[in-house]
Amino acid sequence: MDTYTNSECSLAWSSKGAQLLNWQPRGFSPVLWLSPLVFDDPSRPIRGGIPLCFPWFGNGGTPSHGFARRMEWDLVRRTEHGHETVLVYRLEDSPETRAVWDHEFCAEVRMIVGEECDVDLEVEGDVKFTAALHSYFHVGDIEKVTVSGLGEQYRDALQGGKLLREKFNGVSIGGEVDRVYVKPDRVVRIWDEVLDRIIEIVQHGHSDTVLWNPWVEKSEGMADMPEGAYRNMVCVETAAISKPLVAMPGKPAKLGMKLLVS
Ligand code: BG6
Repeated sequence: MDTYTNSECSLAWSSKGAQLLNWQPRGFSPVLWLSPLVFDDPSRPIRGGIPLCFPWFGNGGTPSHGFARRMEWDLVRRTEHGHETVLVYRLEDSPETRAVWDHEFCAEVRMIVGEECDVDLEVEGDVKFTAALHSYFHVGDIEKVTVSGLGEQYRDALQGGKLLREKFNGVSIGGEVDRVYVKPDRVVRIWDEVLDRIIEIVQHGHSDTVLWNPWVEKSEGMADMPEGAYRNMVCVETAAISKPLVAMPGKPAKLGMKLLVS
């Protein structure tokens, strides 16, 4: 894990998964949640921050959520501007990726981290894929959080992926939740009553937004989830699942988001 503090924030990141692990703008507690039980095992993804699901989401292939979050990426650029840190990571196809996904590709993750936080995935090649920025957000108390902008239709993974429709002004969470919202707004907000703040997620290139919290029972089966930790996190994931992304020669596919906190 690498860390840095610029004039606007503290940040931490890892070349495994090209993953941002911490973003803490001045005057705020960390915006991202990171499990304190991170294993020093190269084959295990890091639970927390912003793992990248690529080139598939969930069980669209093996391993789950794709290989990108388990692999070492190359840092091709690191620039400090004083008020923001720019990191660019690259991953290209290799015999290891070809063994599970037989495609030529070049993927880049770009992070611009300062008072705001931009994370973008750009993929070149002749490929079709699903993806998600599987962001873990730190919240004061999951039962005192509302998520708005998710839209009315979702596929519920807890009901076999059934498509459901419900009119929401905002979603409150009081138990396990695992949903793919298929028509979210461009801007999704996490209203946190305890930390007295709003996290704004401005999405682009997405078709879906995933909402996930494992709650008590599921957490107990996860070795990297400390007891009670589910209360302080929620995953709100900018994703392309119902409409896969398509990259064509000369026309890269893009998925990204800007995070703001107030
Ligand atoms: C979410 C999925 O995106 O990720 C859940 O919707 C899944 O079904 C969760 O349990 C965590 O996945 P993993 O592989 O990191 O434990």
